[in-house]
Amino acid sequence: MMTINTASSDAGADRRTFAIISHPDAGKTTLTEKLLYFAGAIRLAGHIRSRGEHRRTQSDWLAMERARGISVSSSVMTFEHAGLTFNLLDTPGHHDFSEDTYRTLSAVDSAIMVIDAAKGIESQTRKLFEVCRLRDIPIITFINKMDREGRDPLELLDEIESTLALDVSPITWPVGSGVNSYGSFDLLKSKLYTSSAGRGGAYDRDLALAGLHDPELDRIVPPDVVSAFRDSAELAFSVYPAFDPKSFLQGHMTPVLFGSALKDFPLPRLLEVLAEYAPPPQPQPAEPRPIRPEETRVTGFVFKVQANMDANHRDRVAFVRLCSGRFRRGMRLKHVRSGRALAVNNPIFFFARERDLAEEAYPGDIIGIPNHGTLRVGDALCEGDDVRFTGLPNFAPEVLRRIRLDDPIRGKQLKRALNDFAEEGVTQVFDLVSGNGAIIGAVGQLQLDVLSDRMQSEYGIRVGLEPAPYATARWIRSKDESAFKLFIERERHSIARDRDGEPVFLARNAWELSHTQDKWPAIEFLETRERS
Ligand code: G4P
Repeated sequence: MMTINTASSDAGADRRTFAIISHPDAGKTTLTEKLLYFAGAIRLAGHIRSRGEHRRTQSDWLAMERARGISVSSSVMTFEHAGLTFNLLDTPGHHDFSEDTYRTLSAVDSAIMVIDAAKGIESQTRKLFEVCRLRDIPIITFINKMDREGRDPLELLDEIESTLALDVSPITWPVGSGVNSYGSFDLLKSKLYTSSAGRGGAYDRDLALAGLHDPELDRIVPPDVVSAFRDSAELAFSVYPAFDPKSFLQGHMTPVLFGSALKDFPLPRLLEVLAEYAPPPQPQPAEPRPIRPEETRVTGFVFKVQANMDANHRDRVAFVRLCSGRFRRGMRLKHVRSGRALAVNNPIFFFARERDLAEEAYPGDIIGIPNHGTLRVGDALCEGDDVRFTGLPNFAPEVLRRIRLDDPIRGKQLKRALNDFAEEGVTQVFDLVSGNGAIIGAVGQLQLDVLSDRMQSEYGIRVGLEPAPYATARWIRSKDESAFKLFIERERHSIARDRDGEPVFLARNAWELSHTQDKWPAIEFLETRERS
């Protein structure tokens, strides 16, 4: 049995829990596997990737998972490096981009933002960044694909600075790009991350140099490339502020590394920056007070639930981020929502190389708790007084659809499936109080495609999605009880209840929403709702 760093302090001071955020195709998968490789967690880069319908990471194919017949397609990878334990939480991109992605970010203490050098900041990077900003999560920026022709490095930095309102501080600077890519130069340590096999080979060495003007550079790099590099690196040095770890920890400044996940440079340095500067577990926002990692009693919250991991048993795994205390297997924790005690006898740890039963876990660690639907996203587990974790929002859906069931006999299964998807955060479901059925809400079109696919493959239900007469939804509440009652009565045709029974106003268009808001000043219309 593998045990994890038992020398750890109880506050999880040696834990670094982070995510990689990016727009699809920027290189997150490639970078993930290379980081695991350079950290020594996997032997061969390249073998955890399988292309096809689903991109899966190594944890999917582990013997234990196979024996149990379950698979974790996007979850958590734990690895040890430089005396630290890293928990890398996957934020699904592409096909399953959903609230799940946002919520995962509530469970990390830092993030690496990957940007494609040819494309700059793209829409999904921006959305994910905004979520990080809500909690001022420190971000390390990796500008990827420097082995291809990309945009000018200075222009890219300006874009980050202006569109994300974030101070940038370059740590490494590219020496050429595309066919003229000669690696990445460390501005702080004066090292060139390059290839022992020359240009075109994998970048496997770091070369200590005496500054930007070291003649060794002229030996390796052709004159036009080296002089352009020196000019732009000098400019970068003079224009951008020096790296300030404090400002980084406050979420105001991002260190930037230019490189190539495919060609490996300067990935050892990226790991080093992560190890050196990424913060240990931070206090978690909660009521009645924030939870500090040093607290001795165990607390944690569910940030993700994955259902149907075992097709035969319809079990699910709740992913719990530990926030304080030292967790031991077999512990009884209070499930705050139900008030019941929960014996955590089979917690799961997510090692990059193997998945195993967790004996002990510390703040910052993630454990998987198999259950049959007891645990929901946002739920708190604790050893001491009741707490409620805040900051795990539901987002107002941007796409609303009516669901058409091809085989009406399967209404019950449909209900269960919709409930499961709502629990996983794939889609939301709103029951119209007028009794006219349910409306499905998603934060993006892709989720609806996922819903249809999974309905058929996992539940054997064929459904059609039809336009709903609504364009947007808002959670509603009011301090004025009688006004609230009157509002619900008058607007009955537009009122629904979400899965937790909370009232929602469905508007046909933006105009109707703003008109209704003006007409009912005593009612609050909310774009997010914290899970109860
Ligand atoms: P994602 O998880 O962010 O969606 O990106 P992923 O790593 O899958 O990378 C997307 C594509 O970009 C892949 O190419 C990958 O090989 C390529 N890529 C990633 N990093 C680099 C890099 O540093 N340099 C270059 N030149 N390419 C990079 P693909 O053609 O879609 O897949 P494949 O057939 O190459 O595997």
